[in-house]
Amino acid sequence: MTVTIDAARDILKSNDRGGYTVPTDRLYPFQWNWDSAFVALGWATFDEARAWRELERLVEGQWDDGMLPHIIFHAPSDQYFPGPDVWGTHHRPATSGITQPPVLATSIRLLLDQASDAAQAEARAAALYPRALALHRWWARARDPQGSGLVAILHPWESGMDNSPAWDAAMARVPAAPSTPIKRRDTGHVHADMRPSQMDYERYITLVDLYRSHDWAPEKMWAATPFKVADIAINAILHRAESDLMALAERFGTPGEKSEIAQRLERQQAAIARLWNEPANLYESMDLIAGVPIDAATSGGLLPLFAGIPGDDRAARMAREIERWGQKARYLVPSLSPFDPRFEPKRYWRGPVWAIVNRMITEGLNAYGHTALAARIREDTRTLMRQSGFAEYYDPTTGEGLGGGSFSWTAAMALSWAMP
Ligand code: DGY
Repeated sequence: MTVTIDAARDILKSNDRGGYTVPTDRLYPFQWNWDSAFVALGWATFDEARAWRELERLVEGQWDDGMLPHIIFHAPSDQYFPGPDVWGTHHRPATSGITQPPVLATSIRLLLDQASDAAQAEARAAALYPRALALHRWWARARDPQGSGLVAILHPWESGMDNSPAWDAAMARVPAAPSTPIKRRDTGHVHADMRPSQMDYERYITLVDLYRSHDWAPEKMWAATPFKVADIAINAILHRAESDLMALAERFGTPGEKSEIAQRLERQQAAIARLWNEPANLYESMDLIAGVPIDAATSGGLLPLFAGIPGDDRAARMAREIERWGQKARYLVPSLSPFDPRFEPKRYWRGPVWAIVNRMITEGLNAYGHTALAARIREDTRTLMRQSGFAEYYDPTTGEGLGGGSFSWTAAMALSWAMP
């Protein structure tokens, strides 16, 4: 397999649809929210102007209330289900009606800090800062209306980790009764064993139908939903992004904005700390409808490292837990503990390794001084890329590349982190 810097650049160039990058051809033919925030980091290694453009095109989809949709349908394609007609939102360009992990502020900050064209970076970051601020305000207002410090997702697609075992119990309460006929396209592009199940899709679309019937109004969705989860990964990513937003506010914001961000940071830190699972040696999500913690040892539960949440003792225990997973799974970091009976090494978020998650975990491990383990995870990621190309995700037991091929965020992680 020719896995070089040039090959990674070629993937971004061939997935470029005019200022935005599709995650991969055919399977995902539009602009995805958190994909683009990571993909911008890849562009920045060889075309800074294009990196900024990625984020600018992303915020074309932002709603007036600050919500940043998970898909922006810039141009039509019949390769994907559910398309704009199923979502039935009112924004132009057409978008989905739910969001995804908020990596935007982190991406803006990284582009700004690493820029070689400082004048360009200053101007473009200054224009994006209010968009990121509006997004963080939306999360607090729409998804934490009681001010608990934890935000909730209302759809597994919002987690970006769609079929994680962490959502199984909460999803079991969602009727598999969509009014929209399901016309899956994903399993025409990728083997069904690597994708969510048919039952998953029936429930995903039932939720979409429900929210569309409430015209995507956040307070109505909040009141009507049978699925409300404080996802540990989203909360960790949001907290990290909040501290990056603070760094942006130091340059572009007002004193009032800085104190508002500081208040959110403090509330989040305290609330996320309470999601520690003592026997599991990592953090866990909360099912807010059942009012119970969700016992599933996922890679998302390691992301508080990326957000600087744990103290040194907890961070060391998390590092040891990752090493333990590495005794069973050849390649780190599987998306579910390989000791969990639900572990499926080829099925999407129920076991496979994802390069973007590895990058976030290693950044956290390095910050806590666990540099040898961080180096191993980076080396595992390079090996997976070398052996199996820039796949969407990888089997942690065999190293096989899975899902979509020529995948943008994997190529972007090669360029900005794993291969240099
Ligand atoms: C998909 O279609 O699989 C996406 O993950 C949903 O955003």
